[in-house]
Amino acid sequence: MLVTQQPVLRRFWYALMPVSMLDAGPQPFTLLGERLVLFLGKKEGGNDGPVALADRCCHRTAQLSKGWVEDGTIVCGYHGWRYDGSGACVCIPQQAAGAPIPAGARTEAYRCQERYGYVWVCLGEPLQDIPTFEEDGDPAYRRIFQFYEQWRTSPLRFMENSFDNSHFSFVHKANFGMLDQPKPSSYRLEQTEWGFEAETVVPINNPPAGHRVTGTDKPTTIRHLFNRWHLPFVRRFGCTYPDSGLHHIIYNCATPIDDKRIQLVQWLYRNDNEASCSSEELIAWDAPITREDQEILEATDYDACVDTRRRVEFHMESDKPGLIMRKMLFELLQRHGEEEQFRPAGVPL
Ligand code: FES
Ligand code: CO
Repeated sequence: MLVTQQPVLRRFWYALMPVSMLDAGPQPFTLLGERLVLFLGKKEGGNDGPVALADRCCHRTAQLSKGWVEDGTIVCGYHGWRYDGSGACVCIPQQAAGAPIPAGARTEAYRCQERYGYVWVCLGEPLQDIPTFEEDGDPAYRRIFQFYEQWRTSPLRFMENSFDNSHFSFVHKANFGMLDQPKPSSYRLEQTEWGFEAETVVPINNPPAGHRVTGTDKPTTIRHLFNRWHLPFVRRFGCTYPDSGLHHIIYNCATPIDDKRIQLVQWLYRNDNEASCSSEELIAWDAPITREDQEILEATDYDACVDTRRRVEFHMESDKPGLIMRKMLFELLQRHGEEEQFRPAGVPL
């Protein structure tokens, strides 16, 4: 499936960047192949907040992200035309005072809001709201922005991998995976209208110095995972450690930049505090695991096929979560009258 060629994917919300990045001025971001500019401006209705416009001036096409923000509007860096939060051109400095702005002088505006410290954008009429992160705002948890980086893979590959219990023993063998126990724990899976919930109990290697999860010197511990997938590309990794009562809850949005690249966003919620384990340590702990996943996913074909009748990949029992994703994405395309689009034969990876 080529994500930029499936219009229905434009009808979901995606996390684009920490809202704090906009303090430095307008920022470019490509979402589903669409070049956007994000800035803190006046929204329709007069409130301040993040705004997403097409990153293209209607005068001579310059990227508005090269400009700057003034009085809640964005000023094009080429000749100074200004746009408000609705995308309307509101000032042409070369014109005489009071002269009318030409009809239709505007750039496209998109739905944009702040949630969980990030700017979220939907390019079309949303089919559902931004998924709920229950821990966000709960005083029992602290929020850590763990990763924000580009990967050369597709969002479906990322989502599938995050529910694939068979890869731990191999991809993460240097870490928590147990190479001598390749048979994965199975999930209790429950499909919902918007995705699925997946629960499992997994034994893991637990070097106490690194994990800080048991407070004991046991060589292994167990993780209770209560995970969720939200159609199309958001997931929860709800990891709790019954031995210690510690919660290590991750949310990811695999934001599709184009067919070959995602912006990986990772939030971490922990029910401990900075004194017992600093944010830096927690980032450093998950970083090698994330690198291991990145390295193998960047070595796969970005075109992951959702029509499983096309036998381009073989499957096994533990691929079930990924197969549900493919089936639900396939049905989503069908409901919206779309054919799955593929990487044409002969086009190199
Ligand atoms: Fe933007 Fe001329 S290109 S003002
Ligand atoms: Co992994």
